[in-house]
Amino acid sequence: MRVLVSGGAGYIGSHTVIRLVEAGHDVVVVDDFSNAKPTVVGRLEALTGRPIPVHAIDLTDTDKTEHLFAHEQIDAVIHFAGFKAVGESVAKPLAYYQNNLDSTFSLLRAMDRHDVRTLVFSSSATVYGAEPELPMTEDLPTSATNPYGWTKVMIEQILSDVAASDDRWRIAALRYFNPVGAHASGDIGEDPSGIPNNLMPFVAQVAVGRREQLSVFGDDYDTVDGTGVRDYIHVDDLAAGHVAALDTVGSRAEPMSVWNLGTGQGVSVLQVIKAFERASGRPIPYEIAPRRAGDIAASYADPARANADLGWRATKTIDDMCADTWRWQSKNPNGYPDA
Ligand code: UD1
Repeated sequence: MRVLVSGGAGYIGSHTVIRLVEAGHDVVVVDDFSNAKPTVVGRLEALTGRPIPVHAIDLTDTDKTEHLFAHEQIDAVIHFAGFKAVGESVAKPLAYYQNNLDSTFSLLRAMDRHDVRTLVFSSSATVYGAEPELPMTEDLPTSATNPYGWTKVMIEQILSDVAASDDRWRIAALRYFNPVGAHASGDIGEDPSGIPNNLMPFVAQVAVGRREQLSVFGDDYDTVDGTGVRDYIHVDDLAAGHVAALDTVGSRAEPMSVWNLGTGQGVSVLQVIKAFERASGRPIPYEIAPRRAGDIAASYADPARANADLGWRATKTIDDMCADTWRWQSKNPNGYPDA
């Protein structure tokens, strides 16, 4: 298939581009580079040995999106593009709703006009809300605790309605747990701008000396050691899950499918710190800080549905995830170059 990857220059998108090419698909990237460096594209081309066509446009621009579909032959879309910082979404709700929803509307309309009705959407376990049952199964009710999370809930609803409206659509929403790690080459990885919001990039920046110490947000949760427990999944396993979903969704009987992409294993913040110390051979200084507003004690997937329907499962351990994050971070201490 010739697959349009929106947000293909971003963290998960870039790893998925590599997996798609390895699986024999052709790829077209659309990215506005608002949270990605153009230099990632050269690295993708070097790693895949292929030119990667890139459209540097904002999908909320309906004319440009229409133009893209009018000029590229596209068979399916994987839609990653969107704003994704929880704290920022609380401060700028309108920007989040507008960007994430408008880009999806623009994309869906252009797809429909051009008879492209196979879509894999980048959703999140955040749709299980504030007090989920564990392990999380796809049938749990959805809700959110912040505007970013609500955009995922709302887009899933929109996709389900669109899928139900016309049997030619085949749509998958993939609910990611906590993606971490980097490509085995160490040339592609997560490159957050500013102070990282998420645990693994923060730990990696402490290890490489960019930050002094980590704050552990709470040690009084009802978990194995009191710190937050999450289902960390290697980004390369996650990328493989997208290829499996794309290869499967077209032959599904129902127009809309939802799959958790996680390992099913919970790992605590202190366990991540220990694993990263083993991988990097460096100490990770930390202090215990207050709980972060909006955090839940524990989150982990029941990945059984994806395992069964997609013939996919996560294979990499927390040690693999830390080793690959460390290779990327130590090879690229300041992330991607500007040019
Ligand atoms: C966060 C978002 C989630 C989003 C996901 C992927 C929140 C509340 N949730 O998930 O909606 O889909 O990122 O981008 O932001 N931690 C520390 N110190 C740090 C950073 C994190 O102790 O400096 C802890 C957290 O309290 C948590 C764990 O590490 O227990 C993982 O945090 P993080 O990587 O931010 O992911 P989530 O909060 O699970």
